[in-house]
Amino acid sequence: MPETIYLNGRLVSPEEALIPINDRGFLFGDAVYEVIRSYDGRLWALERHLQRLAQSLGAVDMGYVDTDEIAAALRETYAASAIPDAVVYLHISRGVAPRSHAYSRDLEPTVLITVRDMSARFAAMDPAGVAAITAPDLRWRRCDIKSTNLLPNVLAKTRAREAGVYEAILVHPDGYVTEGTSTSVFWVRGGRVCTLSLGGEVLPGITRGIVLEIARDEGLPMVEERISLDEFRKADEIFLVGTTVEVYPIISLDGEPVGSGQAGPVALQLLEAFGARVQAGDDAPR
Ligand SMILES: Cc1ncc(COP(=O)(O)O)c(C=O)c1O
Repeated sequence: MPETIYLNGRLVSPEEALIPINDRGFLFGDAVYEVIRSYDGRLWALERHLQRLAQSLGAVDMGYVDTDEIAAALRETYAASAIPDAVVYLHISRGVAPRSHAYSRDLEPTVLITVRDMSARFAAMDPAGVAAITAPDLRWRRCDIKSTNLLPNVLAKTRAREAGVYEAILVHPDGYVTEGTSTSVFWVRGGRVCTLSLGGEVLPGITRGIVLEIARDEGLPMVEERISLDEFRKADEIFLVGTTVEVYPIISLDGEPVGSGQAGPVALQLLEAFGARVQAGDDAPR
């Protein structure tokens, strides 16, 4: 199925979808984005994504962007695509101006939305889990902003691909685990579901929030903590969570088995409960 594209107010063909060379998103990565998934014709967790978008926009001094208009464009573009199981990419750059680091607040933002059929990619996911490597976290101190400055993520993810594994799990210069290149990271030890607390080191993942809610509903003890890489390697379970992966067990890290070397019971329990919430359309912000 072809990609559906919305650019600056209208649906366009791939040939028409052109960005001026002086777009600040292109020149500086001066842009924020969201990635939203749909299940069976319904956009999942849209309100939560819009809330995070508003936070990102505010943090980069673009709080003037009308998120209601963006939401309407998202719904319209998604409806036009008629793709039941899609990934919707939304990208808002500060706009177009002759290249200069400083910006002015009167630029017209560039708004891009694409909708792609990802059902083949989702079908290719391995329920038995996947392998990961670790990589240094070379990012800046505002990883809570979902900005398009993704060079460290891109480099680390490519090292993972070259190593024949699914994801690179990033390790802060101070020695603790932060997140994956496009996923949040959870671990289980002593029966507790753990992830790093929110702050500038990680994205406030939408799926992270939903999985923590599910853990609470399931009565699983949880803790937001820092974990050193040495301790992380000894975890009973490690799993990724994110819009495109849901809950994805990591069964090997840097070539060594994680826990039993098989998808762990906590990850599988959370994945099942996540699926039930998707079926029920239970995604309202809490
Ligand atoms: C760095 C990073 N962490 C975590 C996530 C997962 O976030 P979400 O659950 O909102 O998809 C993403 C998603 O793209 C990401 O890029």
